[in-house]
Amino acid sequence: MKILFLNGPNLNLLGEREPDVYGRTTLADIESKVRKRAKDLGVGIDFRQSNLEGQLVDWIQEAKGNFDVIVLNAAAYTHTSIALRDAIAAVGVPTIEVHLSNIHAREKFRQKSLIAPVCCGQISGFGQKSYILALEASVDVKVSKKNA
Ligand code: DQA
Repeated sequence: MKILFLNGPNLNLLGEREPDVYGRTTLADIESKVRKRAKDLGVGIDFRQSNLEGQLVDWIQEAKGNFDVIVLNAAAYTHTSIALRDAIAAVGVPTIEVHLSNIHAREKFRQKSLIAPVCCGQISGFGQKSYILALEASVDVKVSKKNA
């Protein structure tokens, strides 16, 4: 099983960016924790970040046939990007939406996710643990697909 982790704009600044909201953990720290848990679970992962919407669209499209699940923190594009939503719907690779913060407890403009309707589910508000929970959910997504 292979899982593609995609991270959107400004997540490269984790650790220094608004630490009161996102904590002091860097994206590299999160990646290494995800890699360790993935090894325990026996799944392969790829972990990427881009500030560019088109790059994220390209990676989602390329996931078809290459990855079983996408875990996507689309960051600000969550709230604005019809292109990301259409890409997820187009490729049909099960996608889990993930956020460090609880987007529903923040500003009104963050409470709307344009990608949520085309994702299997959303994990939001558990800090770096959101990524581990998404990884564990990914394994179940695959299992439930197999058993469907
Ligand atoms: C975020 C929440 C988004 O609203 C924000 O634009 C981000 C990070 C999160 O992980 O909590 O950049 O996706």
